Amino acid sequence: MEERFKILAFAGSLRKGSYNKALVRAAVELAPENVAIEVFDLEGIPPFNQDLENQPTEKVVDFKAKIMRADALLIATPEYNYSVPGVLKNAIDWASRPRADTPLEGKPVAIMSASTGRFGGARAQYHLRQSFVFLNMHPINRPEVMLPLARDNIDENGNLTNEQTRQLIRQLIEALVKWAKQLKEETK
Ligand SMILES: Cc1cc2nc3c(=O)[nH]c(=O)nc-3n(C[C@H](O)[C@H](O)[C@H](O)COP(=O)(O)O)c2cc1C
Repeated sequence: MEERFKILAFAGSLRKGSYNKALVRAAVELAPENVAIEVFDLEGIPPFNQDLENQPTEKVVDFKAKIMRADALLIATPEYNYSVPGVLKNAIDWASRPRADTPLEGKPVAIMSASTGRFGGARAQYHLRQSFVFLNMHPINRPEVMLPLARDNIDENGNLTNEQTRQLIRQLIEALVKWAKQLKEETK
């Protein structure tokens, strides 16, 4: 039997009722049979301190190991002040160090975002892509999953009710799997 494709997913929000966590839950629900999505909670990752980059906490070690084992990443980012929340940037900074030992190198990645505003977190997504350039990660371009007006599209139980976005998330996962397999073939 073919092994399931492994995706590590996380949201850049610690908020209990986070709309971005809701996107991650929707992705788990919508993933095809041959895809296993593991969800990682960024709660507990300390503020990055370069003095300690060679002595990361257990939480950081676990985060990096899970990134390493995953075939691809799926990140749901909120937009804070037109950019990526500090919590997400901080987690990426930890995973990026030490430079010689980063599991982010060459990693295929897909982005989603939900915001209560009208632009669905677009600006945060493009800032995140900028970090991926330095990290030599491989983000996919399409489809773009940006959910605006999240309060109207995620119900009080945290379920994504917007059918078009559900469809896009399905497509995003399928595209990510295809992209990651293509990259793997090329580097064989
Ligand atoms: C500090 C802060 C800054 C924010 N800045 C933006 C922003 O620039 N653009 C936007 O669309 N929403 C902004 N918002 C609203 C977020 O979209 C909203 O809080 C959203 O629910 C956060 O994601 P979460 O539900 O996953 O925690 C901001 C919220 C906070 C707390």
